[in-house]
Amino acid sequence: MSVIKLTDLNLVVGEGPSANHILHDVSFTLEAGTITGVAGASGSGKTQTGMAIMGLSPDGAKLSGSIDFDGQELVGLPPKQHNDLRGNQLAMVFQDPASAFHPMLSIGQQVTDHIRHHEKISKKDALKRAAEMLAKTRVPNPEEALKKYPHQFSGGQLQRIAFATAIIASPRVLIADEPTTALDVTVQAGVLKLLRDLCDEFNLAVLLVTHDFGVLSSVADKIVVMQHGRVVEIGDRESVIVTPQHAYTRSLIESLPGTELAR
Ligand SMILES: Nc1ncnc2c1ncn2[C@@H]1O[C@H](COP(=O)(O)OP(=O)(O)OP(=O)(O)O)[C@@H](O)[C@H]1O
Ligand SMILES: [Mg+2]
Repeated sequence: MSVIKLTDLNLVVGEGPSANHILHDVSFTLEAGTITGVAGASGSGKTQTGMAIMGLSPDGAKLSGSIDFDGQELVGLPPKQHNDLRGNQLAMVFQDPASAFHPMLSIGQQVTDHIRHHEKISKKDALKRAAEMLAKTRVPNPEEALKKYPHQFSGGQLQRIAFATAIIASPRVLIADEPTTALDVTVQAGVLKLLRDLCDEFNLAVLLVTHDFGVLSSVADKIVVMQHGRVVEIGDRESVIVTPQHAYTRSLIESLPGTELAR
């Protein structure tokens, strides 16, 4: 059963001759407990696909087609309702963990912020839950970490804290947009392993956006390849990597050093 079903999603920014058609008939599904990886060159529409699910398309953009979230249509959903879903059902983690946090607020304040908005929960209980989430995302000394500020953590640790923030309200969908791109290579594998574990433990429908085919070959269950705003290939990891059907997919695979592919 799919949690998210995109059908013929189109996104156009601007009007008339200068209109930019960003997404063309994009269709694929996200399933619970499954990582769906989206690969493609810069500008192919990966981020805008994730943003459309989140209800964060650019101002003045026209979205058409369908985004079915468990029977609820998200295309045309009033912004306030989409905002409510973002607080709990739909979560997102971005590329640069440093810019995802306010420098002057403690980690405890930031990890608990949206549950305290959406749920009737005391500050003490919220912090207890935040500490549990930091433990789940393997941040060392969770209770201490809550009292610290963003600059006191490495990029890799901050990204783990961003994952804790994303999952604290028990979302069903997690969109991770280039979650390891800004991190030191030595910590990337650990963060991807964490994403895999969170997906499995919380039965999340994960959309993993990356331009790095090596990343997808190591963690994605399913791969969607985009080019110029269109889906050009889709399939389970094995079949896309071993028997790519589209020339563009082959070029992505061939551009990788052979050792990076987990065939
Ligand atoms: N806020 C915006 N307003 C108008 N057009 C935008 C906006 N953001 C992105 N675009 C356009 O949408 C297209 C797809 O961009 P998108 O950010 O989804 O690409 P991407 O595949 O995520 O690329 P990258 O790998 O560089 O992150 C690009 O042509 C881009 O110029
Ligand atoms: Mg992007």
